[in-house]
Amino acid sequence: CGIVGIVGTAPVADRLVDALRRLEYRGYDSAGVATIHDGVMDRRRAEGKLLNLEKRLEADPLPGTTGIAHTRWATHGVPNETNAHPHFVEGVAVVHNGIIENFSELREELKAEGRVFSSQTDTEVVAHLLANYVRDGLDPRAAMLKMLNRVTGAYALAVMFQNDPGTLMAARSGPPLAVGHGKGEMFLGSDAIALAPFTNEITYLVDGDCAIVTHSGATILDYSGKEVNRPRQISHATAYVVDKGNHRHFMEKEIYEQPEVISHALSHYVDFASHRVHPGVSAIDFGKVSGLAISACGTAYLAGLIGKYWFERYARLPVEIDVASEFRYREMPLSPSQAALFISQSGETADTLASLRYCRDNGLKIGAVVNVRESTIARESDAVFPIMAGPEIGVASTKAFTCQLAVLASLAIGAGVARGTISAKDEKELVHHLVEMPRIMAQVLNIIQPQMESLSREISKYKDVLYLGRGTSFPLAMEGALKLKEISYIHAEGYAAGELKHGPIALIDENMPVIVIAPHDRFFDKTVSNMQEVAARGGRIIFITDAAGAAASTLPTMATIILPVVDEIIAPIIFSLPIQLLAYHTAVFMGTDVDQPRNLAKSVTVE
Ligand code: G6P
Repeated sequence: CGIVGIVGTAPVADRLVDALRRLEYRGYDSAGVATIHDGVMDRRRAEGKLLNLEKRLEADPLPGTTGIAHTRWATHGVPNETNAHPHFVEGVAVVHNGIIENFSELREELKAEGRVFSSQTDTEVVAHLLANYVRDGLDPRAAMLKMLNRVTGAYALAVMFQNDPGTLMAARSGPPLAVGHGKGEMFLGSDAIALAPFTNEITYLVDGDCAIVTHSGATILDYSGKEVNRPRQISHATAYVVDKGNHRHFMEKEIYEQPEVISHALSHYVDFASHRVHPGVSAIDFGKVSGLAISACGTAYLAGLIGKYWFERYARLPVEIDVASEFRYREMPLSPSQAALFISQSGETADTLASLRYCRDNGLKIGAVVNVRESTIARESDAVFPIMAGPEIGVASTKAFTCQLAVLASLAIGAGVARGTISAKDEKELVHHLVEMPRIMAQVLNIIQPQMESLSREISKYKDVLYLGRGTSFPLAMEGALKLKEISYIHAEGYAAGELKHGPIALIDENMPVIVIAPHDRFFDKTVSNMQEVAARGGRIIFITDAAGAAASTLPTMATIILPVVDEIIAPIIFSLPIQLLAYHTAVFMGTDVDQPRNLAKSVTVE
């Protein structure tokens, strides 16, 4: 969910909605805004996309110079208008991101006192508790502190009290929240990007902070009421709203800008002239670490899985990798001699952040591979490795994935140099391949587009698709399946080609296309054997290979996509392109909401 608040000198509703637009990546199940005008609190809420809220506000505007707003990704309670924030109880308005873990217990207690709940959300208990305390005679500040000492869980909150119209209260315990300092106006926002049009002077709240925000500034307290100092920073987030250019969707635009952004990313890590890795990659001393722990979620996790192959192969560095929601609870033995890498486009994913803190508590050196350099994950890391992809708006990650890969490949080469496992000659050769990559990507995007579009028309007729690959093509197979299911809602699975015979082979028939990702590499012949097993059972094969692979296989296929022959280190990045285009065009044929697919959010700050 996304939160925003303004204590202003001019009407705030439009500005709140503008900020919500920048936060829509955090969820788009419903949205709402509340203001105080002439001592009376009022709100507009709407189910679905922000556009619905805008229409409502157009028909029925909301005056007032103090307000809070919210865009929701549903956790407790279906995404309808009743469950949309802000929640109102007797002159208290609350917007919330996160989960109040003891909400059922509090709800029972409040119900027993005769309080009536109007939504199914966990958030409403916060509003009722505050209303209780105000009724008991506490001032807003005391009520807020008392409430914060009752609720448990992970939350960011912004609260408005009708009897104190020039003040907003906020608290953070988990999901991010920032205070923005303006001229005579003050702001609250889930991130600096939301506040960028208003101010670039930001104070990030830390866990356990309660902020009291008025026209004249912000006071930050701990939950016992003691004042604490938090630094004011200049944010580099841009106020510039990205647009789609000539593309139909952000996802399409982001696919096509990959050659350009990847070359920015690479220029940060490697020298294009000498073909050496920049010394900056040794912000973590890979030469001295005994192992690497990697953790991430979703697409970022699959980038990490590919990274594992590289770190192990080129740097002989053992890698432990897991999805962050498992990593954080596995209680795996870790040693301070290891380093840990966290990969996250947003830098805010709750599970990834929790894994980071687990590693930090175990004394590991922490590196963050992030797109948002001011994110919580970046701020809590010893070394930040930016992926330089620029804002990614499409919920299905494309350019962030390939930029993550480019950074991980550079780091693995750097680690290989530091550990003496690759020679200076190997380094030059590998970097040379990376440097060639943007050019090859541009060429591939041009060549394969029409074929991917017509193949997608075919794929859109099926209900299930299986992706197979070996080596780094195995995580890529999983990424292909993830991409397809996320945006087209076609069921898809990615499997290690060698695992086919241990289960999924039972599913093979003419109704489930099998997409085989197989560059002509060390594993090619093995993968072709698995393809034979599919063909022998009447399975329909889509073969994504290179010119050498196409020449070496004579198996009949439903389609063969032929890419240029490239070195093994860049193959996963080049082979990402047909996979992304296939998912994209299939979703377009299916008529889904490509950039904002149902039920998903781009950044998930709850467990
Ligand atoms: C969400 C998004 C995915 C993304 C994952 C991790 O689930 O829908 O596309 O890969 O979060 O996000 P992060 O910002 O940590 O990379």
